[in-house]
Amino acid sequence: MTVSFILNGEDVLVRTEPGVRLIHILRENFGLFGAKSGCLNGQCGACSVIFNGSVTPACLIPAFKIRGSEIITIEGFLLTDECEDILKGFKEVHLGNCGYCEAGKILCAEALLERFPNPSREEIIMGFSGVNCRCTNYDRLVEAVNTIIGIRQRRLYGRSA
Ligand code: FES
Ligand code: FES
Repeated sequence: MTVSFILNGEDVLVRTEPGVRLIHILRENFGLFGAKSGCLNGQCGACSVIFNGSVTPACLIPAFKIRGSEIITIEGFLLTDECEDILKGFKEVHLGNCGYCEAGKILCAEALLERFPNPSREEIIMGFSGVNCRCTNYDRLVEAVNTIIGIRQRRLYGRSA
């Protein structure tokens, strides 16, 4: 089958089989390795991408579902001002990040702030629930998100809330 979709803002086309998972398509057809191959059963979040606006494990998305979709991987998101805000915020509060979870955490932060510009503690915790990291506690995540909000407001408006 041939599938067309939007990948990191560009129209792309891939020839594949219906059951092949997006994680494999990204790595093998597009050379995008930012979505890590971890548990491959939707548990760890290492393979997270933004799929039609929601953070989703790429290992759970079969090729037949990606037709007409919009997918953003960490490679595409890294080029944005929004990503820079998030990286600065993570760094400022020393949020734990490793090569395994970092892409998922960054994309979770973005999807969360898209949906809730001023999220509550519960919304923040829920927003990161798809990434299985035991190295970071909830207080640090909340601190990181609030720091990112301040950084973003200074970038956009020259002031904090
Ligand atoms: S590799 Fe996809 S959730 Fe773990
Ligand atoms: S810091 Fe990467 S899994 Fe916890």
